Amino acid sequence: MPDQPTRARAPLSDEARFFKSWLGNPKLLGAVLPSGPALAETMAGVVDLSLPGPIVELGPGTGVVTRALLKRGIEPRRLILIEFDPSFSALLETRFPGVRVVNGDAYRLAATLQGKLDSPAAAVISSLPLLMRPEPVRAALLEEAFGLMQDRGAFVQFTYGLASPIRRSPAFIAEGSPRIWRNFPPARVWAYRRPGSAPPIFPGGFFAKLKPQAANGRRADANG
Ligand SMILES: C[S@@+](CC[C@H](N)C(=O)[O-])C[C@H]1O[C@@H](n2cnc3c(N)ncnc32)[C@H](O)[C@@H]1O
Repeated sequence: MPDQPTRARAPLSDEARFFKSWLGNPKLLGAVLPSGPALAETMAGVVDLSLPGPIVELGPGTGVVTRALLKRGIEPRRLILIEFDPSFSALLETRFPGVRVVNGDAYRLAATLQGKLDSPAAAVISSLPLLMRPEPVRAALLEEAFGLMQDRGAFVQFTYGLASPIRRSPAFIAEGSPRIWRNFPPARVWAYRRPGSAPPIFPGGFFAKLKPQAANGRRADANG
C-alpha cells in the first residue's frame, strides 16, 4: 500500500506559542500574550547608544524586545539573552543568528552570566514577571544588575501595574514612562539608573515627577 501523504504541520504563531507556554507555567510567563511593538520599542529606546559593551536581555520570550533592540541598530553580537524556557531559548537561537542565548535563571544573574561578559554591560532590559517574586528578590536582582553594568547603564523593566515594581531607594533614580496604551494590557516602562548619571529618559512621564514611593504589591496576573 502506498504511503499516506503526511500533512505538513503549520508553524505556530508567536501568540500561540506564548499561550501554550503560559498554559504550562503561568507564573513563569506572567503574561498571556507577547508584548506589542510599541512597548518593545519604548524598552529598546532606553538603551543609550553612545555606551559600548554588551546589552543583556532578561526573559526575551519569543523575541519582540530583541527585535526592537536590533531594529535600533544594535549589533547582534552585543546582545546576550537569558531565557528560562528551553523552547523559547531554542526558538531565539534560530531566529536571531549572532545573538548569544543563555538558557538559564535570570534571577541568579551574576552566576548565570559568569564568564560571559567581556566588559561591563551598557544596559539590562528585563521583561521578567517581577511581581511574582517577593520584594527582596526584585531588589537583589536590581543590585546584581548594577554590579554588572557600567556607571551610566540602565536597568529597564516593564509593568502592567501603576507603581514602580521595585521599591524606590536613594541608591538609584527610578523613572516611569507615560502609559503605553497601544499594548495589551496597557503597560509602563521603568528605567533605573545610578543617581546623577544622565538627563531624564522620559521627560513627559508622569511618575518621573513623584517622590520615592512604596513598591507595587504582588499581583497574581501581572508582569513586572
Ligand atoms: C512576560 S514574558 C515576556 C516575554 C517577551 N520579552 C515579551 O515582552 O513578549 C516573561 C518571560 O520571562 C521568562 N522568564 C521567567 N522567569 C525567568 C527566569 N527566572 N529566568 C529567565 N527567564 C525567565 C519567561 O519564560 C518569559 O519568556
